[in-house]
Amino acid sequence: MTATSHDAATVTGFTDPPVLSAYQRSVASYWNSERDPVNIRLGEIDGLFHHHYGVGDYDPSVLDGPAGPARDEAIIAEMHRLETAQADLLLDYFGDVRAGDCLLDGGSGRGGTSFMAHHRFGCQVDGVTISETQAEFANAQARQRGVADRVRFHLRNMLDTGFGAGSRQVIWTNETTMYVDLDQLYAEFARLLGNGGRYVCITGCYNDVTGGRSKAVSQIDQHYTCNIHPRSEYFRALADHAFVPINVIDLTSLTIPYWELRAQSPVATGIEEPFLTAYREGSFHYLLIVADYVGR
Ligand SMILES: C[S@@+](CC[C@H](N)C(=O)[O-])C[C@H]1O[C@@H](n2cnc3c(N)ncnc32)[C@H](O)[C@@H]1O
Repeated sequence: MTATSHDAATVTGFTDPPVLSAYQRSVASYWNSERDPVNIRLGEIDGLFHHHYGVGDYDPSVLDGPAGPARDEAIIAEMHRLETAQADLLLDYFGDVRAGDCLLDGGSGRGGTSFMAHHRFGCQVDGVTISETQAEFANAQARQRGVADRVRFHLRNMLDTGFGAGSRQVIWTNETTMYVDLDQLYAEFARLLGNGGRYVCITGCYNDVTGGRSKAVSQIDQHYTCNIHPRSEYFRALADHAFVPINVIDLTSLTIPYWELRAQSPVATGIEEPFLTAYREGSFHYLLIVADYVGR
């Protein structure tokens, strides 16, 4: 069955839950039980809940002052600013989006980037996640913001979304591709986009040049139950599915300050050192990839 983009059953009751592999069930279980302060406390600042990292320099004055709640709050607010800046940067590459356009957020988390996309372009957004908890949370946010008729979250697998062929003008993935097979993902996105449709991705990937998966990258995989791909795999899979890159930007140096600040924050999780090691030793990159679909 091909669902329409706003299939009411999927919005409210998740009556048609996706069929998931054992691996996908373990990923869903991770995100269903995730209540990490690094995500929750930052989102509570302005109701934009992100599950991605930040870019840009931080204001070093947030580290001044005596240890205590005021300093903690200043650090958390600064981290949130950098995470929102990351999503803003992603949106900068969407191209000419119209209010009538229909966008897809592949692996939508608690919805932060979807709300920002709707706010900037006035467009319709459908987010898909395999976490029921996240989809419910994000739909509640949409109702609270008064945009539930335009921004909807679905319990669906981004490898098999059920949305109509050619129904999307832009699709993005913000730190989600390390959970999926890239061939299956780009086959589905190629189905969903019309000719000239745009795909924008921010992801961490390991460096083919330094040879294989470093210890630090393996630690990140283990922490998040993910499978970080090599850089080469993105460009091979995109080319195989008729996606032509137009921008590739290495954001690694832009994200290191975020990790340095996070390591000193009250919401550090312990994964900060592997990220910093991997980025500094060059075994891992933080990439923005923009590609157009030319397959029809
Ligand atoms: C690191 S979070 C990123 C969330 C969001 N993109 C953001 O920037 O805040 C990873 C997300 O990918 C989702 N995900 C993982 N595998 C998926 C799949 N096969 N289909 C849909 N979502 C998936 C998870 O449920 C989670 O929402």
